[in-house]
Amino acid sequence: MNDEILESFEGTRKAGAIAAGALDELNSIIKPGVTTEVIDKFCYEYINDNGAYSAPLFYRGFPKSCCTSTNHIVCHGIPQNKLLRDGDIINVDVTAIKDGWHGDTSRMFLVGSVSVKAKKLVKATYDSMIKGIKTLKEGSFTGDIGSAIQNHVEQEGFSVVRDFCGHGLGKKFHEPPNILHYGEPKTGKRLSAGMLFTIEPMINEGEYNTKLLQDGWTAVTKDKSLSAQFEHTVGVTSNGYEIFTLSKKKLDLPETLK
Ligand code: MF3
Ligand code: CO
Ligand code: CO
Repeated sequence: MNDEILESFEGTRKAGAIAAGALDELNSIIKPGVTTEVIDKFCYEYINDNGAYSAPLFYRGFPKSCCTSTNHIVCHGIPQNKLLRDGDIINVDVTAIKDGWHGDTSRMFLVGSVSVKAKKLVKATYDSMIKGIKTLKEGSFTGDIGSAIQNHVEQEGFSVVRDFCGHGLGKKFHEPPNILHYGEPKTGKRLSAGMLFTIEPMINEGEYNTKLLQDGWTAVTKDKSLSAQFEHTVGVTSNGYEIFTLSKKKLDLPETLK
């Protein structure tokens, strides 16, 4: 890979480590009785303390430093003064900008003791993301990613959200290509070494349809069923991939689901 690509990988590695580091710390913060605003304040501080900026803050008018999406919220939930309750599931999505490069990642957290079906949804979502990532190498297709994710999710009896997708990123937060989390093998864009993008499947317990709330951001499941999401920032290499947002503490997946 040329110098330009190596530089973009090095930049994304640093940004990704900060975003993932914030999520690592949240493991001991998220519990019943904590508000999503507390999670947001922590993310703001952590990112700033690490010499980076939060990409969501004021992005297209978004008011906070991370997204917090509980239960039937599919994505882009806005942190607020509302208590997490025992049994909730929550996705926290963090994006750090370090030296101009973006690292974008999200994980699910289990609040207190969570139902068996919610755990099954969270595990299937994580596994689908990993299966999507494992397809990556120069010459494979974006459709290979979507197909791997969709096959696993539907086999588990869940559905893949169509209204949101993964995205290219780099010096910009969102850029081409779109990474759909469903599709057919050998369709879409062909991957080349050096490409940077996210894989971030949103998976619903029920139907895949979503609805946007009045705040203009919060997307929820139309049938009010649970939804889960994980996200990694990845780079394509000649024979595989690099994941830039892995947990250094092996906290990528909630402990009880390993
Ligand atoms: N981090 C989200 C993503 O995965 C985007 C959040 S945009 C915001 O692409 F404005 F809602 F923060
Ligand atoms: Co993203
Ligand atoms: Co994100």
